Amino acid sequence: MAGAGISTPSGIPDFRSPGSGLYSNLQQYDIPYPEAIFELTFFFQNPKPFFTLAKELYPGNFRPNLTHYFLRLLHEKGLLLRLYTQNIDGLERVSGIPASKLVEAHGTFASATCTVCLRRCPGEDFWADVLADRVPCCGVCTGIVKPDIVFFGEALPERFLLHVVDFPMADLLVVLGTSLEVEPFASLSEGVRNSVPRVLINQDVVGTFAWRPRSRDVVQLGDVVHSVEKLVKLLGWTEDMRDLVHQETEKVLRMGRKGPSAA
Ligand code: APR
Repeated sequence: MAGAGISTPSGIPDFRSPGSGLYSNLQQYDIPYPEAIFELTFFFQNPKPFFTLAKELYPGNFRPNLTHYFLRLLHEKGLLLRLYTQNIDGLERVSGIPASKLVEAHGTFASATCTVCLRRCPGEDFWADVLADRVPCCGVCTGIVKPDIVFFGEALPERFLLHVVDFPMADLLVVLGTSLEVEPFASLSEGVRNSVPRVLINQDVVGTFAWRPRSRDVVQLGDVVHSVEKLVKLLGWTEDMRDLVHQETEKVLRMGRKGPSAA
């Protein structure tokens, strides 16, 4: 299970870190309260603040960090049953984790839909408008086009239902970089059997690890990249990690993105 804290080392602010989190830095937008920027009622009244923020979060400007590549390495080693992420930055896909292993629980910027006629709009058209400070409108009915990210009150993608099978099957749960404040995602952390170890890798103890700890919980506090480096070393995967990041650096540079952010 992953949250915005795994992407802060890539330069994308999380939501709730005091001072640096997105919700502490929305003063320049004319919104009644921080979460309004992700609420449909406000979006339809005034979509500009959201699209201004979307431009700042344009996925093309960021690249995966060591945390994403650790999750990719779990997949390469046949150990990743599924990655449930709340993040909309798409960095899990950029790191090479296949879509079949991903549940993007709060949606993704990779695609967009007209809010009136529900036509699917290609991501590249959507981003051309956003980057040119235009509110993207449907080419057919001129309705506002919204990226397929989940606003508060909207239903989660159907793939989220995979948790009904995945969590009872899992024999290890790793939770990284999330405050576990938003439902129904946060409750997934209670979905593994009591015999299954749960590992929290985060700046601070959060959610069920704080108020309903289990005997086999392990909590690794501090910066997520440093914690992942320690875990990789303990696993004896340092070389595999280095080879993977090197291979991805080559690929990403060829694609014209900057290389992975500093490990
Ligand atoms: N290393 C370790 N932990 C970190 C780091 C880091 N470099 N950076 C941030 N964190 C921790 C923060 O301390 C916090 O506990 O990651 C957590 C991020 O929490 P949030 O900002 O609340 O982000 P997230 O849990 O993903 O938010 C969930 O809220 O607004 C909605 O839809 C939005 O998906 C988002 C959801």
